Amino acid sequence: MKIRKVGVLGCGLMGSGITQVCAEAGYETVVLEVEQRFLDKGFASIEKNLSRAVEKGKITQEAKAKTWSLIKGTLNIEDLKDCDLIIEAVVEDLKVKNEMFSRLDSLCPEHTILASNTSSLTIMAMAASTKRQDRFCGLHFFNPVPVMKLVEVVRTIATSQQTIDTCFEFCKSIGKEPILAKDNSGFIVNLLLVPYLLDAIRALEQGVASIEDIDKGMVLGCNHPMGPLTLLDFVGLDTTYNIANIMFEEYREKRYAPPPLLKKMVLAGYYGRKSGRGFYDYSGEKPVPVDLGI
Ligand code: 3HC
Repeated sequence: MKIRKVGVLGCGLMGSGITQVCAEAGYETVVLEVEQRFLDKGFASIEKNLSRAVEKGKITQEAKAKTWSLIKGTLNIEDLKDCDLIIEAVVEDLKVKNEMFSRLDSLCPEHTILASNTSSLTIMAMAASTKRQDRFCGLHFFNPVPVMKLVEVVRTIATSQQTIDTCFEFCKSIGKEPILAKDNSGFIVNLLLVPYLLDAIRALEQGVASIEDIDKGMVLGCNHPMGPLTLLDFVGLDTTYNIANIMFEEYREKRYAPPPLLKKMVLAGYYGRKSGRGFYDYSGEKPVPVDLGI
C-alpha cells in the first residue's frame, strides 16, 4: 500500500518532529492539537529547525517553503479522515489515546493504518479500541526526531505482515532506519535504556559520584553522546517517571521502579530542560549541576 497523506496526533516535542520529517520527505501532513497555542509552539520548533538547516546550507529556501506548504495544523479530528497513515504522539494516557483511536477508526477509510509513538504502553492496549487490529502497529521515534535515525516498528499479535511492510517502506522513505520489535512494554530501546537511566539516579542517590562525574564517566568511558543525567534532563524527568511507572506496573521488576529521588524531583517541578531545571540548571549560558543536597 502507498502512503500519500500522513496524520499526526499531537504537536509536542515528538509530534512536531514527526510532522517535520514527514513533510520534508514530501508527504502531505496534517497535525492535530487540542489548542492553537500548542500548534503554535510545535510550529515554532519546526521553523527553528528548518531555518537552521537553511542557514547551514543543508536545505534551500525553496525546500523549506515546500515543506511548510505540505504541513497543515488543525484542531478538528475530521481533517484527518483521508489520511493513509496516522501516527499518535499525545500524552501517555491510555484513555486519551483510545478515545482518539476509536473516533478515527470510525472516521477513516478501510486502508488507513493507525500507529502509536508510545514509549512504554503496549500497542495491543490501543489496537483493542478499534476494529482494525490488523492495521494497527507501533511506530516509536526518538528525540530529537529530525536527528535520530531509528524507528521501532512494533508488531502486536494481530498486526498484519502487509501493515509491517508498508510501515517499513514508509520509515525508509522518510530517511529513518526501521527495526522490528515485539509488543512488550519498552520494546527494545526503552527496555534497556530505562533501567540504565534509573541506575544512574540510584548511583547519585547512593553517593557513588557527582552529577558531573556520572555523566563524564559514560561520555568519556563509553563514548555516549550524553551522560545519563544529561539525557534524563533531555528526555524529561516527568516523562521518564511516567515511563518507569508503566514499565514497573507491567513487569513488577525492581529495575523499572522509579527511585525516590526521581519522584521528589518530579514533585518539585524539576522536569529537566523543559522546566529549566533538572539535574542541571539551564538558566545560565552553560548548564550547571544542581545541588540536590545529597
Ligand atoms: N532538534 C532538531 N535538531 C537538533 C536538535 C533538536 N532538538 N538538537 C540538535 N539538533 C541537530 C543540530 O542542528 C545539528 O545538526 P547538523 O549536524 O545538521 O548541524 C546536530 O543535531 C548535532 O547537534 P549539536 O552539534 O548542536 O549537538 P550534539 O552533537 O551534541 O548533538 C544530540 C545533539 C543529537 C541531541 C546528541 O547529543 C545526541 O544524540 N544525544 C542523545 C540523544 C538520545 O539518546 N535520544 C534518545 C532519547 S530516548 C527516546 O527518545 C525514547 C523515548 O521513548 C524516551
